[in-house]
Amino acid sequence: MNDARVTREGIRIHAPEDFAGMRAAGRMAALILDEVGPLVTPGVTTAALDDFIRHRVEALDLTSATIGYRGYQHASCISVNHVVCHGIPGDKVLADGDILNIDVTVILDGWFGDSSRMYVAGTPSVKARRLIQVTHDALMKGIEAVRPGATFGDVGAAIQTWVEAHKMSVVRDFCGHGLGRVFHAPPNVLHYGRPGRGAVLEEGMFFTIEPMVNLGRPETKVLGDDWTAVTRDRSLSAQFEHAVGVTADGCEIFTLSPGGLFYPAI
Ligand code: MF3
Ligand code: CO
Ligand code: CO
Repeated sequence: MNDARVTREGIRIHAPEDFAGMRAAGRMAALILDEVGPLVTPGVTTAALDDFIRHRVEALDLTSATIGYRGYQHASCISVNHVVCHGIPGDKVLADGDILNIDVTVILDGWFGDSSRMYVAGTPSVKARRLIQVTHDALMKGIEAVRPGATFGDVGAAIQTWVEAHKMSVVRDFCGHGLGRVFHAPPNVLHYGRPGRGAVLEEGMFFTIEPMVNLGRPETKVLGDDWTAVTRDRSLSAQFEHAVGVTADGCEIFTLSPGGLFYPAI
């Protein structure tokens, strides 16, 4: 009950029973990401996808963590092609070959479930498919590095090494984050780094890993709407996000897809 404490770095150590709350919330975010998949087709607008997500959040008796967050007004972020993250759903119509990230965060019994994945409208280019594969595998390399005694630098280095070995680049301007009963908590989870650097992982830490990978250069800029982040060179960008908790011997992924649909069928 009261194993909860906070490290020197401000990272909360959760109690064993807290995993159940995160598992339930994470599963709901993942379920909604499963359900929206069949709607992603050429001709649909990103607003229509967000409407569906908002309705599912309501029907499942969840709370959207993003509606009202720092003035954001939507139940998801939808980031198409060269949009890196925080794409605002709107009247944009998806075209054949578009790739997109959909990011959903819900609250269940006070716990936050935060996950995002890539989707494709129609048939993407070979380069786009490669980007999606490398980004997904980079997230999984990062997750494989999560265990008590490892450092956040180990996690970032695993991701960066994988991405750069494939001649792609890791976005530096956005990072993962602690979460739990709050949306964004310490630490900043960088998707690059050096082995052995950074805070030491401990059982009971909850955080996201959500690497953004660009086909071109890593630099981003935020558009005039103050949300939409794009690649400066307009190269394609991809992202996958899981929420995880550190266990005695590794980690638990809270946002596993109930339907096994995390990676898109292309
Ligand atoms: N879900 C995003 C994340 O992974 C945050 C979105 S905040 C919003 O941290 F306001 F843009 F929705
Ligand atoms: Co997140
Ligand atoms: Co997210």
